[in-house]
Amino acid sequence: KPVSPTGRTEREHLLGGDPRAQAGEHLTTSQGLRLSDTDHSLKAGPRGPSLLEDFHLREKITHFDHERIPERVVHARGAAAHGTFVAYGNAGSATKAKFLAEKGKKTDVFVRFSTVLGSRGSADTVRDTRGFATKFYTDEGTFDLVGNNIPVFFIQDGIKFPDIIHAGKPHPDREIPQAQSAHDTFWDFVGLHTEATHHVFWNMSDRGIPRSYRTMEGFGVHTFRLENEAGETCLAKFHWKPVAGIHSLVWEEAQIAAGVDPDFHRRDMADSIEAGAFFEYELGLQLFPDSEEETFEGIDLLDPTKIVPEELAPVQLVGKLTLDRNPTNFFAETEQVAFHLGHLVPGIQVTNDPLLQARLFSYLDTQLTRLGGPNFPQLPINRPHTPVNDNLRDGMHQTAVHRGQAPYLPNSIDGGGPFTTDGYVEVPRQVSGPKVRENPASFDDHFSQAALFYHSLTPIEQAHIIEAFTFELGKCYEQAIKERYLTVLAKIDATLCETVAAGLGLPAPKSELVTHGPVSPKLSQIPPGPGPIT
Ligand code: HEM
Repeated sequence: KPVSPTGRTEREHLLGGDPRAQAGEHLTTSQGLRLSDTDHSLKAGPRGPSLLEDFHLREKITHFDHERIPERVVHARGAAAHGTFVAYGNAGSATKAKFLAEKGKKTDVFVRFSTVLGSRGSADTVRDTRGFATKFYTDEGTFDLVGNNIPVFFIQDGIKFPDIIHAGKPHPDREIPQAQSAHDTFWDFVGLHTEATHHVFWNMSDRGIPRSYRTMEGFGVHTFRLENEAGETCLAKFHWKPVAGIHSLVWEEAQIAAGVDPDFHRRDMADSIEAGAFFEYELGLQLFPDSEEETFEGIDLLDPTKIVPEELAPVQLVGKLTLDRNPTNFFAETEQVAFHLGHLVPGIQVTNDPLLQARLFSYLDTQLTRLGGPNFPQLPINRPHTPVNDNLRDGMHQTAVHRGQAPYLPNSIDGGGPFTTDGYVEVPRQVSGPKVRENPASFDDHFSQAALFYHSLTPIEQAHIIEAFTFELGKCYEQAIKERYLTVLAKIDATLCETVAAGLGLPAPKSELVTHGPVSPKLSQIPPGPGPIT
């Protein structure tokens, strides 16, 4: 029976038409040979050694030996659900992407939530950033919104990604995670590399320990370029707003849950969906004029360590996501799903954000190893829900049986097709500049938005941040690392710095508060953006 608005049956979803999934009454080998015994290996007498000729033993054990694939290099721990996205129909003036622009348009989605640093078997409720990755199976091809529950990132340039992740992952000798126990390398990195400050503040806030996946916001983080039917462009940031509101655990709850029920979040999601209490989010857009400078109110839109306050650019809601179906098979769906920022549809384009540019390389590259070669887009969970005619051939794990002659274009033999018309076209933008390894000067402000964030919180939320810094920095062995991080806190808030220093038993460094500069929200002056998309 159909399980999705586009009429796909569950069998089609799972198998994509592949009949190889435990059908029939008889136990067989992988070759379909009926078996009469799977409990005893073939031996030279009841007490004798096993015989090499036992093809059933060898096949059964060999396949078992290869059941595991590498876990993701980051975001290894995750849980996912299927659902539907319904467009409100008000986004058409900003983007021609049909799944956003057409009122009432329903699109199948698959969402995977994750923690960044822990391994596949780690606890759900640790203090960490959460992944919020959404695959929209649109009629125009698959669009992936590969976001987090925190609107900014630790680094401004993807070339630093191996550094921040190495600093946070377990020590090579003891495999003890940094972010939850031995902390020196993480705090060393973020103290030396202060563009991480804004993200660190969100991590140390209650946002770092969400209560449930259903009470988390999601953010595309980067600025994207949208294009409407008329060819007009604007810049945009994507936001997920949970219908159930934003709620966090308190630290003690998170600690207890990690011990009592390490599967706290995935159990909550699976049980709730099974009981009919679906997870709901609204998708929102912040829109900015597509200017030459790619800034808005003095905020560099290519800097992924900066937000644009919602007072300056309101989040305009354009559709609703409902997660209403649990995966049938964790491995086939949650583990094998492959997200990629390069999975785009007409009306949505990338920008020059140097973090985004590196990500465009990284995801496909890592998936070639993780999923064993170039044909993982053929896996059922990764197949677009629209016809594919890609001229790609052969390779490891090819399951398509292509017909006819070798594909090439141009081609006068096969009627000239397939044709390349009416497709995705990049907005022509001028690119020029000297070949350099440096950031724009606007990237140098590492502290003002961390201060803005901290000062936007209520006193109890600020107290939680102070407790979190004290607890986490208190786990460092090296006093110099703690002292250096206190100099970062001294740039954000004097009381915060002094209280954490007292908690660590160290003297507070002299306060060096930064002014908010250009990012201070001027609530009375909401500037004209591309305008409301009503
Ligand atoms: C995985 C988000 C930055 C490399 C993921 C996942 C999410 C995510 C949600 C999990 C996907 C899943 O559920 O399968 C983000 C966000 C970033 C960011 C929001 C910054 C704004 C980066 C950067 C790199 C990177 C800078 C590398 C240059 C990876 C890799 C994976 C991953 C290699 C594993 C993918 C896989 O094995 O399928 N990221 N990430 N990420 N990310 Fe990122």
